[in-house]
Amino acid sequence: MTNHCKEPHVFRPLEGKNIVFGISGGIAAFKAADYIRGLKKLGANIKVVLTENGARFVTPLTFSALTGNPCFHSMFDQNNPSFMPHIELANWGDVLVILPASADIIGKTANGIADDLLTTLFLSFDSKKLVFPSMNPAMYENPAVQDNIQRLRDRGVVVVEPEEGTVVCGAKGRGRLPGFDTVLVQIRKALAHKDLKGLNILVTSGPTREPIDPIRFISNRSSGKMGLAIAKTAFIRGARVRLVTGPTCMEPPPYFGSIQVETANEMAQEVFREAEAADIIIMAAAVADYSPVTYSASKIKKSDQEMTIRLEKTTDILKELGARKKPGQILVGFCAETEDLIENGFKKLEQKNLDLIVANNITEPGAGFDWDTNKVYLIDPDKNIEELPLLHKEEVAERIFDRILKLNSGS
Ligand SMILES: Cc1cc2nc3c(=O)[nH]c(=O)nc-3n(C[C@H](O)[C@H](O)[C@H](O)COP(=O)(O)O)c2cc1C
Repeated sequence: MTNHCKEPHVFRPLEGKNIVFGISGGIAAFKAADYIRGLKKLGANIKVVLTENGARFVTPLTFSALTGNPCFHSMFDQNNPSFMPHIELANWGDVLVILPASADIIGKTANGIADDLLTTLFLSFDSKKLVFPSMNPAMYENPAVQDNIQRLRDRGVVVVEPEEGTVVCGAKGRGRLPGFDTVLVQIRKALAHKDLKGLNILVTSGPTREPIDPIRFISNRSSGKMGLAIAKTAFIRGARVRLVTGPTCMEPPPYFGSIQVETANEMAQEVFREAEAADIIIMAAAVADYSPVTYSASKIKKSDQEMTIRLEKTTDILKELGARKKPGQILVGFCAETEDLIENGFKKLEQKNLDLIVANNITEPGAGFDWDTNKVYLIDPDKNIEELPLLHKEEVAERIFDRILKLNSGS
């Protein structure tokens, strides 16, 4: 009997990366412990610098235990193996992250003050710097804080906008730390080679829902994970991203623009509008081919009779995009097949005037709907077929963009 159980595929996008993680004196300091744990699991090496006031909220011991490295706490610590920790950390780190960044630390770093280890390190750190402000909304909106943030941005520091919501003190507004996914994506972006910079990339994801009555609809098993992975990867590699997504159980990320739609026709309208400005369009959504001819405004009651629902064809979005394709625009489609994968994929590529098709056999374990992994073939118009191994969907997305860039350069 064939054993289809595979080792879970390990995705470690931060493997070998050195992160210096500054923690200042904000109430969200406790979240840093959880985030650091998450970043470690993804392969990062982490050294923590905790300010004196930060240590009133969380203890150095927690971070030494989580990172496996001493937690740097003082500029002049005689027990510290390094005499000049600010220089040593600056030389070691690929990126400096300050999370949470208090109003105080933002003010000091924006004004070149260097009166403790973290602020001194900030001045000596030459590589990418990322700051995650977190504070009461009135503090955040204060012009002094906003001016300081602008100063940092003008000097190339990435200051990530906090999220709106209710903060610890009960006030509502902007000031909450973003969730782990945003932190991770911003760190990955800071570390990435921005080879998609300047490109507008339109991505679709998820299923569509074709309503029968207010309660029922026809849909499919697409989770939206593949499309979201593509959109995230494009963002990390520097592109301007638009995501048009059908209903999924995942929140669209706050760091790029998303349009949420329900039906195939709604998706068609949004995609055609967004396609005008797109350099690359990747249609990963599983759009319904058919939709009920009629919609019942009230719930259809059960009866003893058989029931027939008449379906009509929806707009073939991919085919229409292929027909409208502008010179230089790249159009990528997906096909999920259960048999004759390569033949069916190539036929679809030709019929729809695609530049690349990503074909996946959804009967393979670990591939297709709802998995975090996928196993795909990339097929181009010259029938070059590239078989990728079973990979995490974000790695598949990386490989798709590598291939697109080769198409672009003509190789
Ligand atoms: C309970 C408590 C919570 C605080 N939370 C925040 C906060 O979330 N953000 C912030 O900017 N300041 C906050 N403060 C004020 C800072 O701790 C204070 O400005 C301190 O000087 C910051 O020190 P740092 O340089 O280590 O950031 C808080 C103070 C207290 C007492």
